[in-house]
Amino acid sequence: MESSPDIGHLQAILLVGGQGTRLRPLTLGTPKPLLPTAGVPFLAHQLARAKSFGVERIVFATSYRASMFREAFGDGSAFGLRLEYMTEETPLGTGGAIRNAAQALTCGPDDPVLVLNGDILSGHDIHAQVRLHQSRGAAVTLHLTEVEDPSRFGCVPTDENGRVTAFLEKTPYPVTNRINAGCYVFRRSVIDTIPEGRVVSVERETFPGLIEAGELVLGYIETAYWLDVGTPAAYIQGSRDLVLGRLRSPAMPGPCGEYLALPDSIVSPEAKVSGGSVVGHGAIVEAGATVSGSILLDGCVVGPGATVIDSVVGPGARVEGGAVLSDVVVGDNAVVGARNELLAGARLWPGVVLPESSVRFSSDV
Ligand code: GTP
Repeated sequence: MESSPDIGHLQAILLVGGQGTRLRPLTLGTPKPLLPTAGVPFLAHQLARAKSFGVERIVFATSYRASMFREAFGDGSAFGLRLEYMTEETPLGTGGAIRNAAQALTCGPDDPVLVLNGDILSGHDIHAQVRLHQSRGAAVTLHLTEVEDPSRFGCVPTDENGRVTAFLEKTPYPVTNRINAGCYVFRRSVIDTIPEGRVVSVERETFPGLIEAGELVLGYIETAYWLDVGTPAAYIQGSRDLVLGRLRSPAMPGPCGEYLALPDSIVSPEAKVSGGSVVGHGAIVEAGATVSGSILLDGCVVGPGATVIDSVVGPGARVEGGAVLSDVVVGDNAVVGARNELLAGARLWPGVVLPESSVRFSSDV
């Protein structure tokens, strides 16, 4: 018979120590899990979701810019949670980080521990994952999701009973479209077998080792909303999906329509803002500007007649009159001079000033 775990006392580890290199330059000053997403730090969505599943105590495994996490979330009481922080002096990788953070857990050796990657937006049922783990007495139960193009990820085949049979690296010819969704339930005593004080990857070392040793590693397959916000395009998509209500989050700062305007922002009545965009605190969108599917961070300015599509404009940055951005990241305090066009993955580093273009078209006023 299925045993029912006391989810109310479930403890969690949140992995937030990565450098977020794919999201540079945004992550040069702010770790990825703290980037504003639909108006609040990304992690606020994960914390609120974990709490909605009855998690009460969460250990943050920090490394890169560790002190910023405590500054943002403190002891967690404002969120109705108890938060602890365990910092690695040098990054220990995903497995090493779990082992290090586990020192702050207070649960027993057979209890389940939830481990979450700090850059995943997921609508899956954490209770169902924990129930499966407990009822089958697994060593680890991984949330697996299905993606259209698994060649961008390592893939995770299972047998007919849900047992994971291998952990395969990225390949152009994946054997399944099921991938590791970055949310695990570990039996506490299994964490204690991860080597201490050295770099360990759960994906490359711990999970393949457990499978090799004949331990029960289970796949919990659920294809609810899922997104890894590791790249600028995915980060923008996550924020947009939250604003447009494609994923519900208890952490949303308020009701949104086509876009979310945070307090002290100014959007000209003659500007068009849409597609789940966010206009940050103190940000300004001037007359004739078009902003769609984008994140405008605090204090930035989009000048008259400028166009910003599917892009991030960093804090304090300026996009001057008539400039066009599509699929671009503009770093903190950078300036895109008037009438420049930046497209397809361009990234402007913090403080860079792109002078205005002297070219004028007959249609320009
Ligand atoms: P990229 O550099 O862009 O690949 O991003 P990342 O550094 O976040 O790496 P990745 O997306 O593979 O990491 C998955 C999760 O594990 C993220 O939530 C990271 O914050 C976290 N993580 C990765 N490496 C470490 C580490 O060495 N220590 C800790 N504490 N967390 C880590």
